[in-house]
Amino acid sequence: MLTLRLGTDRGKHQMPAAPVTIPVTTRSGAYDAVVGLGVLDDLGKHLQSLPGRAPGRVMIVADQGIPQAMIDRARASIAEAGFQVGLIVLTPTEADKSPTTLNAIWSALLAFGATRDDMLVALGGGIVGDIAGFAAATYLRGIRVVQCPSTLLAMVDASVGGKTGINLALGADLLKNMAGCFHQPSLVLADVGLLKSLADRQFRSGLAECLKHGLLAGDFDDPALWTWTITSLGPLLSLDPDALTQLVARNVAVKARVVGVDERETAENHGRALLNLGHTFGHAIETLPNVRPEGAAPGASLLHGEAVGLGLLAAARCAGLAGLADRALPDAIAEALQACSLPIHAVGLPDSGLVLARMHHDKKARSGRIRLILPTDRARCVIRDDLAESVIVEAIDSLRA
Ligand SMILES: NC(=O)c1ccc[n+]([C@@H]2O[C@H](COP(=O)([O-])OP(=O)(O)OC[C@H]3O[C@@H](n4cnc5c(N)ncnc54)[C@H](O)[C@@H]3O)[C@@H](O)[C@H]2O)c1
Repeated sequence: MLTLRLGTDRGKHQMPAAPVTIPVTTRSGAYDAVVGLGVLDDLGKHLQSLPGRAPGRVMIVADQGIPQAMIDRARASIAEAGFQVGLIVLTPTEADKSPTTLNAIWSALLAFGATRDDMLVALGGGIVGDIAGFAAATYLRGIRVVQCPSTLLAMVDASVGGKTGINLALGADLLKNMAGCFHQPSLVLADVGLLKSLADRQFRSGLAECLKHGLLAGDFDDPALWTWTITSLGPLLSLDPDALTQLVARNVAVKARVVGVDERETAENHGRALLNLGHTFGHAIETLPNVRPEGAAPGASLLHGEAVGLGLLAAARCAGLAGLADRALPDAIAEALQACSLPIHAVGLPDSGLVLARMHHDKKARSGRIRLILPTDRARCVIRDDLAESVIVEAIDSLRA
C-alpha cells in the first residue's frame, strides 16, 4: 500500500503545512511527487539528489502564461545548484501542441548541446507537460524529464503517470494526443503557489478532475476524498495553501495508485481506464464547434475540465437510468459542479446522434461499443459497454441548456 510522507507528523488526511511527498511506483520507474507552497525554490536541490548521473545542462520548457518571476525562481534555483540552464517559452494552445513545436524543442536541445545525462524541466500546464515530456522521451532516444505543473489540472492529473504526446491535424480536424508515448518523469514538483496567478476559470476546470478522482477513489485508498473535497471548497476556492496542498497531494496519491497497478492502461475492468470517467462524453463534446458553457458569450468554447464535469454528470445519469446508481447521485454531482461554478448545461450541442458518433470514435471505444465508466456511488465506478444507446442519448440530451 502506498503511503504519503508528510513533512509533519500529522495524519495522512489532515492538512499538511509542510510539503508532502508522494512516492509513485510504476513498472518502468519510481519517482516522487513533491507538493507544497514554495517547493519550486528547491528545484535545483531536488535535481542534485535525483538518482543517476548528474546532469550538466538543464533545459526549462516554460509556459508563457506563468508569471516571469516564477520562471526566474525556477531558473535561479537550477543555476544555484551548479547546472547550466536553458529556457524555451511556449505558447500553450492545442494547435501548438504540434509536431512543429516538438521539432522546435528538439532543435533547442541540440543547440544547447544537451546529452543523454542532461534533463528537461517542464514548467507549465498540461499542454507544456505533454509536449515537453514527449520531447524528452524522444530526444536522443530519451532523456530525463522533471514535471513542474502550473495548473490545477496538470498538478492533479497530467504531470503524474507518464503519458506524453502531441495533437495531429487531419484536414481541419485537430485530433488530440494522437502521437505520443509513455515516459515517466524523474520527479514531479507541484508548487501550489503557482495557482495564485491561474485564471479562476482554469482553476475551476481543474477542480472537475478532482471531483472525478473523488468518484473513483474508494478503490484507491481514499474513500473520503469526494466528501472532503466538497466540504473544503471554501478554503480551496480562496486558495488556502494548506487546503491546496492537501487537495493536490490526495489527488496525486489516487492517480499514483491507479497508474501503479496499471501503468499502460492494459487492465480490462480496473486500473487506468477508470480515469476516463467523464471523458468519453467530455472528449466527444469539447472539440465540437459552437458548443459553449451555459451563460458564456457566443464564440466561447468549453475548457477540458468543464467538458469533463458535464461528462461526469452524463455518466452518473446513465448509471442512474441503468439502475447502477441511486437516482440521487446525478443530483449530488450537479450540486457539486455548481458549487465549483462549473457548467451543468451546454449551449449549442448538436443532435445526439452526432455526439454518439463521436463517442464511437473515441480512442477507448472497443469493437464498435461505447465503453463507459459509470459512478455507482460517491467513491466507486464500474466499466460497462452494454448500455442501450437510448440511455446514452437521454444522458446527452439532459446536458442541453
Ligand atoms: N498526460 C496526461 O496524463 C494528461 C492528463 C490530462 C490532460 N492532459 C492534457 O493537458 C492539457 C490541458 O492542460 P491544462 O488544463 O493544464 O491547460 P493548458 O496547458 O492549456 O493551460 C491553461 C492555460 O493556463 C495558463 N497557465 C498555466 N499555468 C499558469 C499559471 N500558473 N498562471 C497563469 N496562467 C497559467 C496557460 O498559459 C494556458 O493559457 C490538454 O492538452 C490535455 O490533453 C494530459
